[in-house]
Amino acid sequence: MTTYLVTGGAGFIGANFLDLVVPRHPEHRFVNVDKLTYAANLQSLASIEDAPNYSLARVDIADEAAVAALFEANDPDAVIHFAAESHVDRSILGPGEFVRTNVHGTYVLLEACRKRWGRDGGGYDGKLFHHVSTDEVYGSLGPEGLFTEETRYDPSSPYSSSKAASDHLVRAWGRTYGLPYKLTNCSNNYGPLQFPEKLIPVMILNALERKRLPIYGKGQNVRDWLYVTDHCEAIWKVVQDGVVGETYNVGGNNELMNVEVVDRIIDLVAEETGADPDELRALKEYVTDRPGHDLRYAIDASKIERELGWTPKETFETGLRKTVRWYLDNDAWIDAVRTGAYRDWIEQNYGER
Ligand SMILES: NC(=O)c1ccc[n+]([C@@H]2O[C@H](COP(=O)([O-])OP(=O)(O)OC[C@H]3O[C@@H](n4cnc5c(N)ncnc54)[C@H](O)[C@@H]3O)[C@@H](O)[C@H]2O)c1
Repeated sequence: MTTYLVTGGAGFIGANFLDLVVPRHPEHRFVNVDKLTYAANLQSLASIEDAPNYSLARVDIADEAAVAALFEANDPDAVIHFAAESHVDRSILGPGEFVRTNVHGTYVLLEACRKRWGRDGGGYDGKLFHHVSTDEVYGSLGPEGLFTEETRYDPSSPYSSSKAASDHLVRAWGRTYGLPYKLTNCSNNYGPLQFPEKLIPVMILNALERKRLPIYGKGQNVRDWLYVTDHCEAIWKVVQDGVVGETYNVGGNNELMNVEVVDRIIDLVAEETGADPDELRALKEYVTDRPGHDLRYAIDASKIERELGWTPKETFETGLRKTVRWYLDNDAWIDAVRTGAYRDWIEQNYGER
């Protein structure tokens, strides 16, 4: 049995990841380590909350004493590190929390691993720190080219620079202390359970409610979109089969301008609900661009495809249709997020822990 500490497992990607691996691997133990910030939603974990190989620890990864106690109590073999402040716009308004969680929190976890696994001259055999990161660390591309694992880091936002710093810390702990790590840098994710502050869920929910569809600048920024379970499968593949000390870029080969994404959402919402697409198109509104907005991200994922045999299962068409259907079918989840009721539930159940 391997004990995995999965940080940030109540967020969008972490919850999708746990939903995938917990039922599939009853032989392993998964401990979800989450501070339960605004971005966490325990309703996203309803399908696994009673599984015997799953538990939740409400812990702030930047709190050294709490993390030390967590390691003492669980004796983990591996950490899969999702926890982060993740929203670029929030990072522009308030960068401090991004440095605290993404940089200092990663440092605290690395130190906890080094101390726990390195003690008694114990060596790191069979141990692993898997760091989940983003392609935004590479900065912005012009109209041509792709990010490879060798692309120089050049982050633009407080979010991406805090993730870049955390990537550097992970590699330094590998080189300096021999800590076994693996790293994945992934493009933009979309899919079920995504908090409605990011582009795709905002547009789906606003279209359903006939609210305006705000698009930054001219809507020409290009992102490479990956369905969330394809990302989760890639992470699990790297955790199992990847080479220690290696980095793998993960992407979907789905480059689209933001305005194209919005147009596809409009068409799908119209198709799925019988709404008039012209009425939805009239809701599009171009708004002042985000400062430092990177023009284009695009990932070369050939290393993970070639070396580990991973390929995405969903195209943008199939993944987006699933996503729109999920938001149509999950009123209770959406209402709880909208009204803030999910926060009350967290405070009632975890407020004192
Ligand atoms: N969303 C994307 O498109 C994308 C793409 C590539 C990489 N990533 C990376 O994947 C990871 C997960 O992203 P997401 O979109 O699921 O984020 P999210 O914002 O939905 O979830 C983040 C989770 O981390 C938890 N958290 C925040 N601060 C914490 C702290 N101090 N201690 C413990 N837990 C804390 C939150 O409560 C939440 O459950 C992040 O590291 C992000 O950088 C995201």
